[in-house]
Amino acid sequence: MSKKIFSGVQPSGNLHLGNYLGAIKNFVELQNVKENQCIFCVVDLHAITVKQEPKELKKNIRETAATFIACGIDPTKSIIFNQSMVSAHSEAAWILSCVSRIGWLNRMTQFKEKAGKDKEKASIGLYSYPVLMAADILLYDATHVPVGDDQKQHLELCRDIAQKFNNDFNVQNFLKVPEPLIQKQFSRIMSLKDGMKKMSKSDASDLSRINLTDSKEEISNKVKKAKTDTLPLPENVEALVERPEAENLLGIYASLKNQNLENSINEFKKQNFSEFKKKLSDALTEKIEPISKEIKRLLNDEKYLDSILLAGSDKADKIASKKIKEMKELVGF
Ligand code: AMP
Ligand code: TRP
Repeated sequence: MSKKIFSGVQPSGNLHLGNYLGAIKNFVELQNVKENQCIFCVVDLHAITVKQEPKELKKNIRETAATFIACGIDPTKSIIFNQSMVSAHSEAAWILSCVSRIGWLNRMTQFKEKAGKDKEKASIGLYSYPVLMAADILLYDATHVPVGDDQKQHLELCRDIAQKFNNDFNVQNFLKVPEPLIQKQFSRIMSLKDGMKKMSKSDASDLSRINLTDSKEEISNKVKKAKTDTLPLPENVEALVERPEAENLLGIYASLKNQNLENSINEFKKQNFSEFKKKLSDALTEKIEPISKEIKRLLNDEKYLDSILLAGSDKADKIASKKIKEMKELVGF
């Protein structure tokens, strides 16, 4: 069955291995199924929910587009565009925010994490961010949304918002209720410095993540310094309990090699970390170095990147403006 795929990545700099293994790698696989129609969005409206330096933001929008392309998203097969170029996203977000309930948004754990202790000082955009995300998805009648594990709750909310809109305006199936596509294994890559914390672009320590722009030397240095424990590598999956760092590193290796965790464990069982780290470093370099070089090459060609985003937003706008027009009719505008 052909799928309509939509996903988004924020242009907030430092795209990392978690973004790649948890999301972008999956985007490429979905794109390469001939029947699928794929749309990948640089969600710049989402990025400004926290303060951004305008010049940096512009650079990061191009860098995110370059990363998509460097990872294998082909602009002749998929639509690549940035959200702020298609005004229907903002309009739909407003309409949907009048359908969404405060009680639903109050349950969003990502807001609680990102807002931290001082919730009163967080932007209203940060709070209503999942409604904008729902607008992104619903404007394109997306059937499937590939994301990392941390976006699961936002997708459940998107489903609730779609159903509420359809009920309120008595239009069954007008907004399509999308299915999340979250990988069973390796959908949450953890920090190299703390196996209990997600690998994140906002972590203060650059040693906590492998950036998609890292060089071979940076990768090998970060893997060397990655936290481990004092035991040898385990013999089976059960023995990974309470060894989050070992589990994460073995998971990264397995995901890079497209194999399951058991295979990686068999390859390294009872060995010490230093041998394994060398192999891990090689596997990372093999995957990331070509991506890193291609991102840098593409960043030198701003004209090309801008032309991809412009052509992509034209295509996206055709789809989204039709849907928002229908939404406005239904609302009574
Ligand atoms: P963001 O950079 O927050 O816009 O995230 C882009 C995509 O990467 C989303 O689908 C996230 O779920 C995914 N992602 C971000 N961090 C991780 C991580 N540490 N592990 C797995 N997936 C991640
Ligand atoms: N909120 C997502 C994140 O931070 C990014 C995003 C925005 C998204 N709109 C989306 C993901 C629509 C999937 C579909 O990772």
